[in-house]
Amino acid sequence: MRELVLVGIGTGNPDHLTRAGEAAIRAAEVILVPRKEGKGDLADLRLAICRDLGVEAKVRLFDLPVRDASGDYRAGVDAWHDAIAAAWVAALPPEAGTVALLVWGDPSLYDSTLRIADRLSPAPRIRVIPGITALQALTAAHAIPLNRINATVLITTGRQVRDHGWPEGADRVAVLLDGETSFLSLDPDGLTIWWGAFLGMENEILVHGPLSQVAETIVRVRAEARAAHGWIMDTYLLERG
Ligand SMILES: C[S@@+](CC[C@H](N)C(=O)[O-])C[C@H]1O[C@@H](n2cnc3c(N)ncnc32)[C@H](O)[C@@H]1O
Repeated sequence: MRELVLVGIGTGNPDHLTRAGEAAIRAAEVILVPRKEGKGDLADLRLAICRDLGVEAKVRLFDLPVRDASGDYRAGVDAWHDAIAAAWVAALPPEAGTVALLVWGDPSLYDSTLRIADRLSPAPRIRVIPGITALQALTAAHAIPLNRINATVLITTGRQVRDHGWPEGADRVAVLLDGETSFLSLDPDGLTIWWGAFLGMENEILVHGPLSQVAETIVRVRAEARAAHGWIMDTYLLERG
């Protein structure tokens, strides 16, 4: 492999794909797509994009290895990333020069594709085509700026909020990867939330307001949507003061 192009495809809306992304997918000799992501509607999006662009014939499917969660977390993730890099290589035809990988949102945000790509040997040239992140989809959906004037935004995960509370020095906190409505672990007094699920998708859901008033609504709406779809992805921004 001479070049690996990571194409950010946005958060589930086929229209999030940029012209640069489209051009990179068309130009690639091979497009690597995981056979199954285990999340119903999500699994087919990459293939649908390739079909729409008429490049289905260049797709090579690979089986996404399963992470061993039994031992040490870091060691498990390292071994898993090794296995994914090996699965990419195994799925490639020997003559593959330029390979494209379609990455959810953007490769810079809570995504390990760049770390996995670092394991390839010999190392190909890595190129990134940026995509719309869940955070951008959230602020766009609510029509708000990410930051207040001259203020600090901190991006974190649900687990960090649960384990460590409100981060020191932040006026706003953006939370991804939260399967457990971790905002419930914070004192809601003086906090405002902008919450969104299925951002950019047909079934997008938005809730905004003082946390003390809307927390219960979010918990209920989230549970209902999760039951209806079998999965959910949500992202939110909290503001203090
Ligand atoms: C592994 S991270 C990937 C983030 C992605 N690279 C990005 O740029 O947005 C997955 C998390 O992104 C957020 N996310 C991704 N797509 C989303 C969507 N359509 N609606 C709401 N949140 C989304 C959720 O917080 C989810 O737990």
